Amino acid sequence: MLVDGFGREVSGVRVSLTDRCNFDCVYCHNEGLGDTRGPMDPAENEMATDDVVRFLEVAREFDVGKVKFTGGEPMLRDDLEEIVRRTPDEMETSLTTNGTFLPGRAEELREAGLDRVNVSQDAIDREAFAEITESGAYERVLEGVEAALDAGLDPVKLNMVVFEGTVEFIPEMVEHVAANGGLQLQLIEYMPEIAGHPEWAIDIERVHAWLEDRADRIEHREMHDRRRYWVDGGMVEIVDPVGNETFCANCHRVRVTHEGYLKGCLNRNDDLRSMGEMTRDEIRDAFREVVHNRVPYYGEYMIRDGDGGWEVNDEYVGA
Ligand code: GTP
Ligand code: 5AD
Repeated sequence: MLVDGFGREVSGVRVSLTDRCNFDCVYCHNEGLGDTRGPMDPAENEMATDDVVRFLEVAREFDVGKVKFTGGEPMLRDDLEEIVRRTPDEMETSLTTNGTFLPGRAEELREAGLDRVNVSQDAIDREAFAEITESGAYERVLEGVEAALDAGLDPVKLNMVVFEGTVEFIPEMVEHVAANGGLQLQLIEYMPEIAGHPEWAIDIERVHAWLEDRADRIEHREMHDRRRYWVDGGMVEIVDPVGNETFCANCHRVRVTHEGYLKGCLNRNDDLRSMGEMTRDEIRDAFREVVHNRVPYYGEYMIRDGDGGWEVNDEYVGA
């Protein structure tokens, strides 16, 4: 397994298959690349099926054990089933999606080898959902969640970005997952570093405190040192990267952008390495190099700017 300069093993990869999306969520950081291109624009330079599979095979040589497919909306790719089928068998395979295309496809994805899925559901209210996602597909998303459960994907996690537009729905969402076996909830701290609007952020410690009061059990997950709470039998995890050294110190993933660039950190775009025309050998070298150049933590790599926000420490730019 490859290990970076801060002792972090790279055990997972996160592959964006497209930056197209049929939603236009107001908070979206587009996997660290910044603003989305707008719904459904024609695809440009997306990685070909064979290129995705080739990268995964190289990653597997380095003992990478997990792959997460993301987007944009990864289910806009018709070859997703093929990609999942051709993903090395030893890898745990998961998908983050807005859920609208799961009805009719969840079953085949499961058969192709998909293990689990995360579905963005930011609110349990039709109007609020439409406002946040700039879409009217609320019912369709609920159907997608059902389809994922019926297909046996396990767990089905609901992703909820915690910000001003969603915070009021947390108690109801916690009840909702507690009442529905197979569902888990991920409360994700809003990351304004790339998406803008720092004024939308909510103090995530308040959410921790609220859950602590109600939890029967609390656990730390190894990945990112995320805290998990069990409330009335339901599992709720908080993803709180912003300003969190411990989160980054436990980060074991490298990304690939939809155009086939290796990317060492969500918050960093100056280390992108194209795998475009590379041979397998060159991909191996590029992978080693990106891991070697991985950056450390908030407080060091990301530093406070004058306005209480975060910015990249100049020392690392272009390093
Ligand atoms: P699983 O829980 O294993 O399914 O993975 P996950 O939670 O990373 O998957 P998901 O795609 O649902 O991502 C949830 C959120 O975590 C996203 O909103 C990201 O903003 C945040 N996140 C994921 N990976 C990183 C990372 O490496 N760094 C930072 N800062 N945030 C991340
Ligand atoms: N802050 C936090 N989470 C975000 N996501 C997208 N943009 C942001 C942001 N600015 C999350 C969504 C989606 C996942 C891939 O990323 O919950 O499910």
